Amino acid sequence: MLTVAALALAGCAGQRVDYSQSALSPAGPVARLQLQLIEKSLYVMTFVFLVVMLMLAYVLIRYRARRGEDGEGVQVHGNAYLELTWTIIPILLLAYLAVPTVRAVFHLNDIPDKGPIMHVDVIGHQFWWEFRYTDPDLGIVTANELHVPVGTTVAFRVTSADVIHSFWAPRLGGKVDAIPGRENRLWLRADKPGVYTGACAQLCGDSHAYMDFSVIAETKDKFDAWVAEMKKPFTAPTDAEAQAGMQVFAKSCQSCHAIAGTQFKGAIGPNLTGLMLRQTIAALTLENNHDNLIRWVSDASAVKPGVKMPTALKSTGKPGNLGLSEDQVKAVVAFLETLK
Ligand code: CUA
Repeated sequence: MLTVAALALAGCAGQRVDYSQSALSPAGPVARLQLQLIEKSLYVMTFVFLVVMLMLAYVLIRYRARRGEDGEGVQVHGNAYLELTWTIIPILLLAYLAVPTVRAVFHLNDIPDKGPIMHVDVIGHQFWWEFRYTDPDLGIVTANELHVPVGTTVAFRVTSADVIHSFWAPRLGGKVDAIPGRENRLWLRADKPGVYTGACAQLCGDSHAYMDFSVIAETKDKFDAWVAEMKKPFTAPTDAEAQAGMQVFAKSCQSCHAIAGTQFKGAIGPNLTGLMLRQTIAALTLENNHDNLIRWVSDASAVKPGVKMPTALKSTGKPGNLGLSEDQVKAVVAFLETLK
């Protein structure tokens, strides 16, 4: 019931709203526990607010200045009972909040040892997310779209390559800061298949607002199929344009981008293995289609201000320009489109 009240307070309007980024619509045990804590403090706050407001109204009415009264009221100095009351009640209320909160903190710190478990390193970058599946049977590196099997505990180690970011998928739980030189831990689990979007929750630069990610929770079969696709050996393109694109990639892109199974091992930008399996590019900023790939490769900073990806197209004349022609950009995209 309180959840419904909270939704109303949050300005949501029933079924029509997509709760894909609402902590009030939990889809896993961590988010559920966190929502219980939110509800508990909401109970306490509502109770305190009502009591204080009622007392205020009572005092304003009961002790108002009446006609003909213009002197000072009775002067009171100290009241042991009252002071004890307003000390003890807040102590009890704080204890009521603190005990379950501290218990939850410890519970969430312990990675559950029952059931299947998967390990993922999360690295925040300006302005995208790197995901490294560190279990030896997986060994996949991807960006921004994290596939997980439903019901599997995912144990994250979260860090950053540059500034402080914050990893938060509200429907699954969180959040935890991504801090350079530090490893923060977090575990999450999705109950049901679905796409749970997340965001960077720490102001981290010009394109902080374009630093989203998604957690794609799917059945074990679908997840295994995705893993198989990601681990498929690289096949060099046969089409002439894509072959030319691979040459351009070798010259202009590989210092930052890696593709599994090739000599391209750049580790500054997103790993592009299985790029065409992704729904989006640029950390969920653009749908992954031909026109957007051209747009992104030509001039990424026009889409996302402050992005580290250099402008490719000669005609923009921007600094850090890779100096590619329109045909070369098209060729690179033709090559990228073979990565599936
Ligand atoms: Cu990364 Cu905000």
